[in-house]
Amino acid sequence: MVTEVKDTSKKRMLTGYRPTGRLHLGHWHGNLLNMLKYQAEYESYFFIADWHALTSDYADTSQLLANVEEMILDWLAAGIDPDKCNIYRQSDLPEVAELHLYLSMITPLGWLQRNPTYKEQQEQVTTKDLSTYGFLGYPVLQCADIVIMGADVVPVGEDQLPHLELAREIVRRFTHFYGDYLIEPQALVSHAKKVPGTDGRKMSKSYDNAIFLTDEKDDVAKKVRQMITDPAKIRKDDPGDPDICSVFELDKAYASAEELAKIDKECRAGTLGCVEHKLGLAERTSASLADFQTRRAELGGVAGLVDQTLAEGAAKVRPIAEEAMHTVRKLMKVE
Ligand code: TRP
Repeated sequence: MVTEVKDTSKKRMLTGYRPTGRLHLGHWHGNLLNMLKYQAEYESYFFIADWHALTSDYADTSQLLANVEEMILDWLAAGIDPDKCNIYRQSDLPEVAELHLYLSMITPLGWLQRNPTYKEQQEQVTTKDLSTYGFLGYPVLQCADIVIMGADVVPVGEDQLPHLELAREIVRRFTHFYGDYLIEPQALVSHAKKVPGTDGRKMSKSYDNAIFLTDEKDDVAKKVRQMITDPAKIRKDDPGDPDICSVFELDKAYASAEELAKIDKECRAGTLGCVEHKLGLAERTSASLADFQTRRAELGGVAGLVDQTLAEGAAKVRPIAEEAMHTVRKLMKVE
């Protein structure tokens, strides 16, 4: 069913995610829970930034379509509801590419070369060649994503703040040349909870330390068993320090306040062993994933669901993009 999402009393909120494939607990606590909140509070636009994935992963695109599909199914199973928000894929809107072209005309090279994310990635990523035109223009494409929908608010992690600042600068430059039309987006800094992976580092697919939302009970238990606890707690009755234990850290997302206080006390007293604590965490994690997994399995069996969701999503937002482009072209005298 296609319903119009237009509640003018609500601010327009937009955010994009690169298609990374199957989502894990880091995404659950970092993005999905926020998305559920936003879809209730704002007129929300959630899109899959598949062109942005190409800026760094252009050499091997074999997983791209499958990754988009996994991500959409995970969103739907988590309760992101196309009747309450707008879900679409960037590449379904050629208008975004066109706006990116116009914005690229007015964006000074220096702004992009000075972008901290660009510099950092150039230095740190050694497995792919990121010295491309497309990668340098990443923030310009991101700006096009945001302003084509007239978004007021963009939730971002700290790391994305420079991109949002660039978007605002590009909008100001557009206004200076062609007139006041594009909206300068506001950043909504989301302090997403960072969950530790099984090796204690930030949970990430590329670190191979992730617990996926679709992991079955046994896999969750196996992964939790590998997690790092206080290295000084060797025997189960040695006293431990929960503050340096990644099992305790992850448990903050699952155990109740009372449970946490009890675990903290018993670990310090040496009455709770790590094996038992891990069993508890694995139980709590699996239990909390159960509903999601049931829904995910159901949705995965519905033929054509992803295509339909994307087609309906694009149809809902296309008029906004088209209208914005008419205005932009007129202002720039190309229409
Ligand atoms: N750069 C964002 C990320 O890496 C993804 C993204 C693309 C985005 N376009 C956007 C986020 C527009 C917010 C708004 O996560």
